[in-house]
Amino acid sequence: MIVCSCNLITDTNIRSTLGGEASPRTPIGVYKSLGCRPNCGRCFATVSSIISEAMGNGGSGSASYDGACDASGGSCCLS
Ligand code: FES
Repeated sequence: MIVCSCNLITDTNIRSTLGGEASPRTPIGVYKSLGCRPNCGRCFATVSSIISEAMGNGGSGSASYDGACDASGGSCCLS
């Protein structure tokens, strides 16, 4: 699912940056790991939820994707 419509970043892309000791702990860190920069910031809450889930702080084990964006164009920094 597209989480960041500005950069066309998916939840899978975000999860790929997480898991190691050097994994990012903030949305900005995730963007840096992916070689991107945030634009509007609408996705920050969702990225934070995914980070929390990966760190074992997700409670139910299911991140909330409220505010996740539908793919609506833009250029992808991952291509
Ligand atoms: S939706 Fe992620 S920076 Fe705009």
